[in-house]
Amino acid sequence: MVKICCLGAGYVGGPTMAVIALKCPDIQVVVVDITKSRIDAWNSDTLPIYEPGLDEVVKQCRGKNLFFSNDIEKHVSEADIIFVSVNTPTKTRGLGAGKAADLTYWESAARMIADVAKSDKIVVEKSTVPVKTAEAIEKILTHNSNGINFQILSNPEFLAEGTAIQDLFNPDRVLIGGRETPEGQKAVQTLKAVYAHWVPEDQILTTNLWSAELSKLAANAFLAQRISSVNAMSALCEATGANVSEVSYAVGKDSRIGPKFLNASVGFGGSCFQKDILNLVYICECNGLPEVANYWKQVIKINDYQKSRFVNRVVSSMFNTVANKKIAVLGFAFKKDTGDTRETPAIDVCKGLLGDKAKISIYDPQVTEDQIQRDLAMNKFDWDHPVHLQPMSPTTTKQTLDYKKIYDSMQKPAFVFDGRNVVDSEKLREIGFIVYSIGKPLDGWLKDMPAVA
Ligand code: UDX
Ligand code: ADP
Repeated sequence: MVKICCLGAGYVGGPTMAVIALKCPDIQVVVVDITKSRIDAWNSDTLPIYEPGLDEVVKQCRGKNLFFSNDIEKHVSEADIIFVSVNTPTKTRGLGAGKAADLTYWESAARMIADVAKSDKIVVEKSTVPVKTAEAIEKILTHNSNGINFQILSNPEFLAEGTAIQDLFNPDRVLIGGRETPEGQKAVQTLKAVYAHWVPEDQILTTNLWSAELSKLAANAFLAQRISSVNAMSALCEATGANVSEVSYAVGKDSRIGPKFLNASVGFGGSCFQKDILNLVYICECNGLPEVANYWKQVIKINDYQKSRFVNRVVSSMFNTVANKKIAVLGFAFKKDTGDTRETPAIDVCKGLLGDKAKISIYDPQVTEDQIQRDLAMNKFDWDHPVHLQPMSPTTTKQTLDYKKIYDSMQKPAFVFDGRNVVDSEKLREIGFIVYSIGKPLDGWLKDMPAVA
């Protein structure tokens, strides 16, 4: 029986390994993590991450061919294939701070693998890493190998949170990069055979190591760029009276452009886009390509602009101050169907409003109050106001919102600011609300109170 061990039981490692176990009953999969509470949660009825369909997959395989453990060394030493799916945050200090990926966790994982390995291993890069990380890892492993053969593969994960299980069941493609030596190619084929249990062979792409590593950064940069492009258009739409939904529909009908990922929003969030673009920017700078670096930097600048534009719109609409005004924030995670708050635009929006002394109440069915407090207390920029959080009733859900009742209880004029273009703005206007929707023609009131970005 082939044995797989995955280092890191997070958003990527957990669901990916659960699906491999489900689709490959002949393979034993053990997910290990340094954090005991994470592993305990994976072994409990309340999994540490929320992902539609994940519970069912885990229930079907856990205890059969899927295991979660803190006994890292034992499982690494027994494994044939080791996936490394540890966190690679952006460096906060030292060389490349604010841009480069922090590879501390990766390096310590590689050193541990070298220490405990007693047989040949295929080591698979799963977490997004800077191009040429494989080379560094290879050096660590081969310089400490004691005669053991290590093959490094890059197999970036393209799943999106909230649809992880569907994405894993039906991936657009699986990408495997390896060395162009006979041993490297053999390792590629071994990993390909795992995915071939459920993914059609022509969707399993094989490339050299660096292409695979760069493709992941490139894909995320392209996706984020689409959002920044449409968000940039949304500002122009508001200024001209065009409707961004109509513009993106018309643009997306061009089969060369395609309709997906063109929804204007308050800005993209999540653990990947910003981190990966910063990483790309850093790599470009290190390779003496400042023009290319600046090109990609602009994607993040527009995203920051979009978030502050939203805050400014809220504040300017309410007579240029929200001090002591009660504002309800519906939704805090970086997108629907997830409890993940990493880089969520809600953090910047809430901090912006709190900076103007608003009283905010936040509700998200998947995010705990504790997490929200932690996110808003984080010292991203100097923060001198205490956070006043007023918990909202957990029964407040989108389905049960009675806007008429809400309107009646609010001070007038009453406002709704829709950062995702999800509310029925016409209905709300009929009730009496002043409604702001990103990139849509502005209500008279909002036109009279122009926001300064
Ligand atoms: C992304 C990539 O999609 C995935 O392939 C990669 O493996 C990891 O990064 P994820 O961050 O989980 O996945 O979610 P995604 O659905 O891409 O959304 C990212 C952000 O963009 C969210 O904040 C979302 O709300 C926003 N978004 C997405 C828009 O604002 N408009 C859109 O049209 C699409
Ligand atoms: P991702 O979104 O990339 O999956 P997460 O932060 O959700 O990232 O998960 C990464 C996991 O990796 C964390 O649970 C962390 O505890 C774990 N981890 C970090 N370093 C190691 C290591 N050396 N061995 C095992 N697990 C590790």
